[in-house]
Amino acid sequence: MTDAFTLRPGLQKLTEAEPDLSPRPASASATVITQLMEIEHANNAGYVHGGTIMRLVDGAAGIAAMKHARRRVVTATMDEMSFLAPVFIGDLVTAKAMVNDVHRSSMEVGVRVDVEKIPTGERRHVASAHLVFVGLDAQGKPTPVAPVIAETDQERRRQAQARVRREQRLLRKAALAQAGLEGGTGPAPAG
Ligand SMILES: CC(C)(COP(=O)(O)OP(=O)(O)OC[C@H]1O[C@@H](n2cnc3c(N)ncnc32)[C@H](O)[C@@H]1OP(=O)(O)O)[C@@H](O)C(=O)NCCC(=O)NCCS
Repeated sequence: MTDAFTLRPGLQKLTEAEPDLSPRPASASATVITQLMEIEHANNAGYVHGGTIMRLVDGAAGIAAMKHARRRVVTATMDEMSFLAPVFIGDLVTAKAMVNDVHRSSMEVGVRVDVEKIPTGERRHVASAHLVFVGLDAQGKPTPVAPVIAETDQERRRQAQARVRREQRLLRKAALAQAGLEGGTGPAPAG
C-alpha cells in the first residue's frame, strides 16, 4: 500500500527502524505548537471552530507521542474536551503536550491549550485534553514503546492520574462489551 510513510523516506524510517525501548523522561516528549487564528479557522461571527482547536490538540499530542515512541503512532482515543473560553480571529493559540504514561503499546498524552491576546498579552486557559496514542510496527500492528520516566512531582502526579483514567477506560470498554454495546456509536451509514 502506498501512503505518506512509503512516499517519504524520513517517515518510512519511523516504521522500519528497530525500536529503542530504553526508558525516556516524560520531558523529552514535550511539544509546543503556537498558531495565529486566522479567518480560515473561524465562522462568520469570528469565533474559532472547536474543530480547529481539536486538530491542534491532536497534532501536538501526536508529535509528543512520536517523539517518545520514535515510531509511527495513531490516535486511539481522545477523552472528553471542554472549551472553557471562546477563541477569536487574531488570538494566538498555544498547545502544550507531553506523554503522561506508557502501558505496553499505548501512551496517554496530556495537552493544555492557552490563548494569548496579542494587544495586551493577556493569557487564558481554554481547554485541556487527554489522548491515547498507540505505537505501530511496519505492518501497522500495535508494538511496545519505551517506558516513560516521570522525574518531577508534577509528572509523577500526571502519571498516577493517567493510570486511573486508563483503568476507567478499560472498565467502560468492558461494561459496554458485556452489554453487547461496544463499537459503532455514530449514525449508521446512509444507503
Ligand atoms: C488503535 C488501534 C491500533 C488498536 O488496535 P487493536 O487491534 O485494538 O490493538 P490491541 O487490542 O492490541 O490494543 C493495543 C493497545 O491499544 C490500546 N487501545 C486500543 N483501543 C483503545 C481505545 N479505544 N482507547 C484506549 N486505548 C486503546 C489497548 O489498551 C492496548 O494498549 P497496551 O498495548 O498499552 O496495553 C486500532 O484500533 C486502530 O488502528 N484504530 C484506528 C486508529 C486511527 O486510524 N486513528 C486515526 C483516526 S483518523
